[in-house]
Amino acid sequence: MCGIVGYIGAKECSDILLSGLKNLEYRGYDSAGIAIGTDGGDVQMCRVKGKLNKLYEAYHSDPFDGTIGLGHTRWATHGRPSKTNAHPHRAGRVILAHNGIIENYGEIKSRLVDKGRSFDSQTDTEVLAHLIDQELANGASDLHSATRQALEQVEGSYALVIMTADNPDRLVVARNASPMVIGTSDGDIFAASDIPAVLEYTRDFQFLEDGDTAVLTRDGAEIYDADGEPVERETKHINWDPISAEKQGYKHFMLKEIHEQPARIIDTLRGRVDPEEGDVDLREVDIDPEWLADVDKIVMIACGTSFHACQVAKYAIEQVARVPVEIDLAHEFRYRDPIIDDNTLCVPVSQSGETADTLAAMGEARERGARVLSIVNVIESTMARESDGVLYTHAGPEIGVASTKAFTTQLAAVNMLAVWLGRRRGVLEQDTACEYLKALRQTPNLMEKILNRTDIYEQIARRYSDAESVLYMGRGNQFPIAREGALKLKEISYIHAEGLAAGEMKHGHIALIDEEMPVVVIAPRGGVYDKVFSNLEEAKARQGELIAIATEGDEQIAELADMVVEVPEASDFIQPMLSVVAAQLLAYHVADFKGTDIDQPRNLAKSVTVE
Ligand code: M6R
Repeated sequence: MCGIVGYIGAKECSDILLSGLKNLEYRGYDSAGIAIGTDGGDVQMCRVKGKLNKLYEAYHSDPFDGTIGLGHTRWATHGRPSKTNAHPHRAGRVILAHNGIIENYGEIKSRLVDKGRSFDSQTDTEVLAHLIDQELANGASDLHSATRQALEQVEGSYALVIMTADNPDRLVVARNASPMVIGTSDGDIFAASDIPAVLEYTRDFQFLEDGDTAVLTRDGAEIYDADGEPVERETKHINWDPISAEKQGYKHFMLKEIHEQPARIIDTLRGRVDPEEGDVDLREVDIDPEWLADVDKIVMIACGTSFHACQVAKYAIEQVARVPVEIDLAHEFRYRDPIIDDNTLCVPVSQSGETADTLAAMGEARERGARVLSIVNVIESTMARESDGVLYTHAGPEIGVASTKAFTTQLAAVNMLAVWLGRRRGVLEQDTACEYLKALRQTPNLMEKILNRTDIYEQIARRYSDAESVLYMGRGNQFPIAREGALKLKEISYIHAEGLAAGEMKHGHIALIDEEMPVVVIAPRGGVYDKVFSNLEEAKARQGELIAIATEGDEQIAELADMVVEVPEASDFIQPMLSVVAAQLLAYHVADFKGTDIDQPRNLAKSVTVE
């Protein structure tokens, strides 16, 4: 949560900071601010409650500029959203922006108050500014030393960018359990929470590790490890296209990202699948293939949408590769004393690679002996770096808070893993593998057919956007899609929704169904079609308003349902990747009809980097 950007160089930096924050707004958007060291030798700040457009207005009504500065966009953890709680925070000479949580801030604050310091905000962050200022006042040799001494006193997570009012030639940054990258380009040095912040200025990045601090000057970045020793962190060239982080004419990032899915799936499959040979090339995964093929069980962990990908994966991997797959919400896994040993493969799944609960659960699995193969989108994210091997999803930057293309590319990745394992374990015939992979290759074309229809979603939006609650039902590998469809609707339209296994309906949920209750049934032809059809009839018998996501030309369903969203006929193996696109579009159009803030829904943030 929270996005940070910092700059030092030869350029006036207000535009760099403001555009950097715009690119990080998905990380939080309840308040924002910038601080710039001006030519007059002081630091000026502008902070607001609300989104970045408010910061733009406030800044442009009284602009200032300089060649060193930092900015922050906030997702509140300690202290409600307000101008006073907005970052940057200043104490004496020290100005800083922080992402993370200082867990022992209460105790530090009392100590500092006893020493006569007074606080303006209710945040945990302000104690850091005071601590560093105090270390400087106590004789620390420079800002870097003062920062290291202050950080020795804190517990918790942080990514920090720090400057002082009396030194316009130096930024200090630090990282512990919250991401921080350093970008460089011809004398311009950037610090940011995430790559897209400054992608329009540089593609060359160094990734700080936990415990690292760095001093940024106009001559470059000096990085120090947790012991304070100078350390080299490899510079990586990132090939992401800055244009892909823009809306490109779509009304919302979410809609653009829904439409991008065919291309991103092609990217994810590229160079990895061979439908003629019926095999998948996973040589990039840096885990001994013999060990991998021979694991006793797989434990998949994730949160939110990524957890739904794990649910689909359980069906695919168990069926295709005959390996037992356990799935767990990461925040539950950590506290349930799971049975893991050194023949267990742990597969965390994450778009950001920075979700605190998933990182902690992965650490827990590793401590118990598991090896970790993560399925991650963001290159060089913490999860990617802390795993034994990584299968990247190549979804590109996902800006909309509601995850879409990250999910379908995760499904492509788990399908590839299933076939790879099935072949290596000798349980998947070559011919069958060829069929699976041909189906996978067809997915982008089939998705395009769904994306080309919009009128049905607009009709659904007009008819159901007043609903107070919506039930989603599916069976087999469409059950997770029912849950994902419900999550999408909740997140962006604020309509309550629940996704259930259709067979479970008669065990309780059926009591909810009446003529006021829209029921979305995910019922493409395939494995358990007949069973789902019976559930559909049961719902109709209770006067439920039925919206079916069904195979094109299915007249049986068309007769029963009030609305039908058609998806192309396809193998069960890839069908979830198709029906979810229909569910995404349904949620999008309902939310758009209601006029909600689709890319930045209330109370949410893109990366949940706190527990
Ligand atoms: O970055 P991650 O995939 O680890 O994030 C996990 C969830 O926070 C995320 O999927 C969340 O549920 C999305 N906003 C859903 O659209």
